[in-house]
Amino acid sequence: MSEILGCEKVTKRFGGLTALNEVSLSVVKGEIFGIIGPNGSGKTTLLNVITGLIRLDEGRILLDGRDITKLKPHERVKLGIARMFQGMRVFPYLPVYLNVELVARSIYGDVRLARARTSWALTMSGLLPEAGELPIRLTPYKLRMLEFARILVSNPKIALLDEPFAGLTPDEAEAMIGLIRKFNSLGVTFVIVEHKLRYLMRIANRVAVLNQGVKIAEGRPEDVVRNPQVIEVYLGVS
Ligand SMILES: Nc1ncnc2c1ncn2[C@@H]1O[C@H](COP(=O)(O)OP(=O)(O)OP(=O)(O)O)[C@@H](O)[C@H]1O
Ligand SMILES: [Mg+2]
Repeated sequence: MSEILGCEKVTKRFGGLTALNEVSLSVVKGEIFGIIGPNGSGKTTLLNVITGLIRLDEGRILLDGRDITKLKPHERVKLGIARMFQGMRVFPYLPVYLNVELVARSIYGDVRLARARTSWALTMSGLLPEAGELPIRLTPYKLRMLEFARILVSNPKIALLDEPFAGLTPDEAEAMIGLIRKFNSLGVTFVIVEHKLRYLMRIANRVAVLNQGVKIAEGRPEDVVRNPQVIEVYLGVS
């Protein structure tokens, strides 16, 4: 069992607020690692720190044992970290295929290779029929698939998903689970942030629980949901 992603005592403050307080994680190659916690517990901030979108105040981030704490976001993408955002970050007035191809071009340089990878990613995420559409015309589910295609196109070692099931119908959530499982079986490690536990319980090998910037529990999902501290955080009862 070798570590692909490590967070060592990561601390991030926003003014007087400590959004992450000495959070340490070790994500193992090939696993699906879940991060749960109530609103404002620091989940998105942790993903932002891992991708380099925001700078941490203290601690280190390691990818395959290499210290990437000081690398810029695009340098981290090139090393194999890809990210799905909470909410939409696509270009709404560029066609679906260009939204994917622009990511591919920034990674591969070679336009032909970028186009080939784009077609592949659109096919895998079921978006070929909508390739020429504008994202503003897509359903929420298809938009999520566009985000997924933008991750796939970079051929990531590790994919970070921020609330991938939010707003999906049960059937759509099943399709999302299927896609995550498929790429996991092809070797992609996943870190999935979710507010709700329902879907993570089914796919995560391990989950960490954040509360007010502190990791309060970590382990197998079935054990974590029985943890009294976790129950208290979620239900306000012990
Ligand atoms: N750029 C920022 N500037 C100031 N405060 C911030 C910033 N980003 C996040 N915060 C604060 O840091 C804390 C953690 O926020 P974060 O978005 O990481 O929570 P979260 O666990 O992702 O919540 P949610 O479940 O609502 O998505 C919150 O109190 C939030 O208000
Ligand atoms: Mg969040």
